[in-house]
Amino acid sequence: MIYRLLYVSTADARLTADDLEAILHTAQINNAANNLTGLLVYTGSQFMQLLEGPRDAVEAVFAGICSDPRHHSVARLIAEPTRERSCPNWTMALQVIDTPDYGPESVFEVDDETLKAFLPETMAPDLKILFQSFNTMKTANSYAAE
Ligand SMILES: Cc1cc2nc3c(=O)[nH]c(=O)nc-3n(C[C@H](O)[C@H](O)[C@H](O)COP(=O)(O)O)c2cc1C
Repeated sequence: MIYRLLYVSTADARLTADDLEAILHTAQINNAANNLTGLLVYTGSQFMQLLEGPRDAVEAVFAGICSDPRHHSVARLIAEPTRERSCPNWTMALQVIDTPDYGPESVFEVDDETLKAFLPETMAPDLKILFQSFNTMKTANSYAAE
């Protein structure tokens, strides 16, 4: 049985593009070794990440992620057994929804269609909705701030 865990968190304000690359690099190596797959979406200020694989491995990696100073306010949304992986081919894919400088002030460059096209066909419908509304929510927040 596969176990899936979805969380959201807030990136440290000083997070750089190099940090993001380092996170992805570590994730891809560790996750391959632990039989984990998933998706990390970064909006420029927030993360949403899906981790899936053997339960113990998911929880062990998540415990490390929770104490990582590169983000805070980690909130677990889903943690449950599931029949199939949503991202079977990705040790960890990263979708950056932002302009290339990753700055928190540049959150307006959002393209819902890009994210939609990026999500794999194998993704469970509930996760698709959550990833998409995560993106939409950010768009709404940026309009509210105008
Ligand atoms: C948003 C975010 C997502 C991360 N995702 C993963 C991941 O999927 N897999 C992973 O091994 N580490 C991930 N990390 C890095 C871990 O927090 C940690 O640095 C890494 O597991 C190495 O831990 P270790 O030094 O105790 O081995 C992530 C960190 C952040 C901030």
